[in-house]
Amino acid sequence: MILIFLGPPGAGKGTQATRLSAKHAIPQLSTGDMLRAAIADGSDVGLKAKAVMERGDLVSDDLVIGIIEERIAHADCREGFILDGFPRTLAQASALDALLERQAKALTSVIELRVDDDEMVTRISGRFSCASCGESYHDTFRQTKVSGVCDACGGTSFKRRPDDKAETVSKRLLVYYKETSPLIGYYYCKDKLKSVDGMASIDEVSGQIADVLARVHA
Ligand code: AP5
Ligand code: MG
Repeated sequence: MILIFLGPPGAGKGTQATRLSAKHAIPQLSTGDMLRAAIADGSDVGLKAKAVMERGDLVSDDLVIGIIEERIAHADCREGFILDGFPRTLAQASALDALLERQAKALTSVIELRVDDDEMVTRISGRFSCASCGESYHDTFRQTKVSGVCDACGGTSFKRRPDDKAETVSKRLLVYYKETSPLIGYYYCKDKLKSVDGMASIDEVSGQIADVLARVHA
């Protein structure tokens, strides 16, 4: 199974991709997470990406296509993978088509999470994650069960993303509409697009995705 999660910042791509990855035992490939890891490592890729991400712009197509190409060659991607935040431009989508074709693999579906702009801002401004394992939480919508303790790993240190500041969030949304939303039409024309209501609760969205995938595999 090869899936793409498509949606604006804060739509819940990461939240749903993490759940689905655990459920189907296939890796979640988040270009945002990979770039943040590269920044934390101080690698060349990280140095190139840092300022671009902090402004809310997109990192160059070549750089992210290279990252994905290298990552999907790993053995753990043989049975499939979930792309979270890639592709994000038409150039990336067409590079992915070529990559899959070369490996005789087929895209299963593109799951579009539809969310209102106001909701997206609320979600992003309340987001925080565990500094140890990366589990994602929200001040209102998804708190830790025990205050200050990560449900997943018991860690007690949490962090917020530098690009989650209000002014950067508006920029990221503009970039989404300009560069990424054309992919909705691109995948619709290929009969791969499955849209779900991302405004529903986290569990309800997971249920809608499970229904969509059951129909694809029926
Ligand atoms: P990336 O890390 O991909 O960020 P993004 O697309 O802006 O999306 P987010 O991660 O902010 O949101 P999400 O949809 O994953 O939502 P989440 O599940 O966390 O990219 C960051 C940057 O990296 C880009 O700006 C760019 O610079 C660069 N980059 C990355 N990929 C690139 C590419 N391919 N090309 C070029 N540049 C690239 O949920 C958000 C919050 O809401 C959480 O707190 C969560 O708990 C909560 N929540 C989730 N679902 C629900 C729900 N249903 N109800 C209530 N709350 C919910
Ligand atoms: Mg994410």
